[in-house]
Amino acid sequence: MIDIHNHIIPGVDDGAKSVEIALDMIREAQRQGVSHLVLTPHLYEPDIMQGTHVWRERIKQGKAELFDAMKQADLEMSIEVRAEVRYQEWLSKIISELDVLIGGRYLLLEFSFNIVPNRIEEIIYNLVIDGITPILAHPERIVPWQNEPAKVLELIRLGCLSQIDLGSVLGSLGRSSERLANYLLEKGAVHLAGSDSHNLTSRPLLAKPGYDWLCDNYGQGLADKLLIENPERIIRGEEIEIFIPRVHEEPDTWRDKVKQWLPFNGGLR
Ligand SMILES: [Fe+2]
Repeated sequence: MIDIHNHIIPGVDDGAKSVEIALDMIREAQRQGVSHLVLTPHLYEPDIMQGTHVWRERIKQGKAELFDAMKQADLEMSIEVRAEVRYQEWLSKIISELDVLIGGRYLLLEFSFNIVPNRIEEIIYNLVIDGITPILAHPERIVPWQNEPAKVLELIRLGCLSQIDLGSVLGSLGRSSERLANYLLEKGAVHLAGSDSHNLTSRPLLAKPGYDWLCDNYGQGLADKLLIENPERIIRGEEIEIFIPRVHEEPDTWRDKVKQWLPFNGGLR
């Protein structure tokens, strides 16, 4: 498996608190069958207020510390470092000055859990026009979308991909996240599943239990797609095939069509 969303670099965000914890998180990833990690530290607006070089330097140091410790511990893992970028006004500056794109064209894009910009369609459109495919980080955890699930489908139709957190389907991130994650899975509107792992306790990796859950509930084909095939194509910068979800369900039969126009379904069953 390939995990494309986690917070393993020590001391750079709210993820691993020490290099020892980071090493244990990597060991745990190995144990669960992860063969490649895309490390995605948070990149918030205050992180670059003094210039993008501040974040670049912080990540460089964290990465060097981690790689040195891995060498000393004789721990091998295929790793690349990108970012989980919170939407902000300086997005284009971040993209042009920092190495944040996965596979040279995919952007793991996070929105505030409580507020989504009202011009989000324009933001997505502009990224797509620039040849960048936004990956919506855990849309199932965004409250405005929990209240209006079809909004996520509209954004996919505009050219986004969606990545759910495995904790959401396993129920550890709340009932509302679990519900929206299942809604999106049923609509064929999930393209990646990530661990979003922050530590070994409250936000553990869950790659293997998540993979098994997906196999049991949606079939091995989808589990392989979300945790192996799609991430593999994404880190190589290749296109992935997606099913474009219908935002509004069309009636399938004449009976459904008639029902739409009759008050109280006209007594039709
Ligand atoms: Fe994250």
